[in-house]
Amino acid sequence: MTKIRIAIQKAGRLNEESIEILKECGISIDNGRDQLKASSRNFPMEVFYLRNGDIPQYLRDGVVDIAIIGENVLIEKGEDISVAEKLGFSKCKVSLAVPKAVKYESVKDFEGKRIATSYPNTVKNYLDSKGVKADLHIITGSVEIAPNIGLADAICDIVSSGSTLFKNNLKEVEVMLTSEAVLAVSPQISEERKAILQKLQFRIQAVLRARQ
Ligand code: PRP
Ligand code: MG
Repeated sequence: MTKIRIAIQKAGRLNEESIEILKECGISIDNGRDQLKASSRNFPMEVFYLRNGDIPQYLRDGVVDIAIIGENVLIEKGEDISVAEKLGFSKCKVSLAVPKAVKYESVKDFEGKRIATSYPNTVKNYLDSKGVKADLHIITGSVEIAPNIGLADAICDIVSSGSTLFKNNLKEVEVMLTSEAVLAVSPQISEERKAILQKLQFRIQAVLRARQ
């Protein structure tokens, strides 16, 4: 029997809510995070637990058919991948922040500055659109520590509650984009699996309506 292959985040903020929405759709998945792959007992679906940043490439290659992923990751790495549904959870911003003590006036203040980020494409596009040139330092995690250790003058990262910025003595000065979890679709999905996707979307829409 053909199954639809869905990628969800292996660990992190999206993981639990992704499993939860599938559950609310009546799709039970046999096991959790210990295995990288699981099957549903009652829906033609296989679940792959993957690293967030790898998911756009898996979709592009058609290794998975669909994914629950943050829009911010698609904007950074998957502009070519289409979104079937916005899911309304895991809302966040992708923002620029500077040390609290810095006097900030406008985005022009980033000219020539060192910015630490895991979102180089997003930052570059944003600053290009404002005619600002900065020096980007790409790091994959714990970005907010960079100004405190002298690695950068500013950072660009996800802001959710704002507590990571607060704890690191930083202030948000530019919101580049807002994001939420979405259902993304591989450009290579087969017709047969598209039919399964339609059933899934029908259930997701019902769940989202009930949540409102
Ligand atoms: C994420 C993100 C921010 C933080 C934002 O980091 O990179 O640092 O959450 O959330 P907040 O505004 O609610 O504090 P995460 O803790 O997932 O770890 P990582 O940066 O090491 O990936
Ligand atoms: Mg972080």
